[in-house]
Amino acid sequence: MSFSLLKFWHDSLEHWHEPRHRAAEGLHQSMRENAKLTWFDIDLHKACNLTCDHCFYNDHYSTSTSPALAPEFLEEAIRQAVEMRIEVMTFSGMEPTLGKNFRVAIQTARAARDQYAPAAKIGLITNALTLPQHLSFLESEPPDFIDVSIDGWKSHDRIRANTRDRVIANFKQAKACLRNTRVGTSTVLRNDNIDDVILMIERTAEFNSHFYFEPVVAAVDKHIPSLASENLIHFVQRLRRVAEIFHEQELHFSLLLNGDQALPLFYHDLLEPEEVEEDELHSLYIRRRIGRVEIDFILRIIPEYFWRGARLSYDGYWLGTCDLLQAPDFHEVASGSFIETPSIKQLFERSLARDTLFYQSLQELFLNPCGHTEREQQYCLSCFSTRMVKMMHQRYGAASASYTGATNFSHDPFS
Ligand SMILES: C[S@@+](CC[C@H](N)C(=O)[O-])C[C@H]1O[C@@H](n2cnc3c(N)ncnc32)[C@H](O)[C@@H]1O
Ligand code: SF4
Repeated sequence: MSFSLLKFWHDSLEHWHEPRHRAAEGLHQSMRENAKLTWFDIDLHKACNLTCDHCFYNDHYSTSTSPALAPEFLEEAIRQAVEMRIEVMTFSGMEPTLGKNFRVAIQTARAARDQYAPAAKIGLITNALTLPQHLSFLESEPPDFIDVSIDGWKSHDRIRANTRDRVIANFKQAKACLRNTRVGTSTVLRNDNIDDVILMIERTAEFNSHFYFEPVVAAVDKHIPSLASENLIHFVQRLRRVAEIFHEQELHFSLLLNGDQALPLFYHDLLEPEEVEEDELHSLYIRRRIGRVEIDFILRIIPEYFWRGARLSYDGYWLGTCDLLQAPDFHEVASGSFIETPSIKQLFERSLARDTLFYQSLQELFLNPCGHTEREQQYCLSCFSTRMVKMMHQRYGAASASYTGATNFSHDPFS
């Protein structure tokens, strides 16, 4: 592997003690030099048939299933992104299956993939309510993966308007039809659904083998706080027990950990810093195997915001991370528009310039220390992942911007 994210970050830490301004400049320069668009999300329109109370899309958007981006612009954006040899392209929504551009998007992405980047993966994140309407189309144009959102067993009905049974029926139907697509689930971990998510795993493991979990991040206009570290610890302990029970079954669990969320797990001996590995997409992870069950802890120590991933809004605006969709008007925080600059390459480069949120967030790292020790910073990147969200909360104001940051633990895995 020519470029290593882990080595890159370890080398950057060596310059941490330089005068702050110089260190921030150095990090910005190296990130720009090593930038590569790897993950690209495209919102197809701004409508949804649910109103989940944690959703990062700001409620101020007036919703519509009519695409704001003409199909020829959307097709061109998809083609250019795939031509840049991205690794993963996902379509989102708000709810992707509702939009008029849905089929065009999948067809264009698959054709561009065949032409420019055969290894690229095309995926869909969906609430699955209208998925059955598209199954015969998807059989002829199968995506590589579909993640169906299920937010617990009983709590799913509370969060997602009593849709659990319908979603599960649609999940099974999609799995039966799409033999070459990995159909799995995506679950948000909230302070009010941890034990219920474990129950969901137990009830669905019979027909689902790929589970993805993502801790909730407090959104500006909602009242759902970010996941507390004690609840994360509790979830990981219970997940391990579930893995022991199902050890004879081939199951795959992935848990995303944003920045400092890895630290409490290190302190509780649930993970070891020495176990961190890097995959071919430069994601950092720790893999645990319990019999035939695999648990991947994806460590977003060095987040992909801006320099490896980006999102195109339904009307063609460039956002370095989906967290920016929290803004009441995301156009304010976008770094360009495909209509004005119809070049994905130029928009990507533009988003990394010195007058951007990306640059501002790197400066923040050095100007406002997070309170973690130098050794801990190797695994929290000064809590970089949480800073973008905090910046949004500071800018637009919200009471629920709470993060459980540095915690005092008795055992120190770094000593
Ligand atoms: C924004 S939705 C879009 C796709 C589709 N509507 C769905 O719900 O699956 C994609 C995923 O992001 C999750 N999500 C939304 N808001 C979030 C937040 N504040 N923190 C963490 N995940 C969030 C959703 O629960 C869902 O699993
Ligand atoms: S999480 Fe998905 S389904 Fe729920 S409101 Fe947001 S976009 Fe809609």
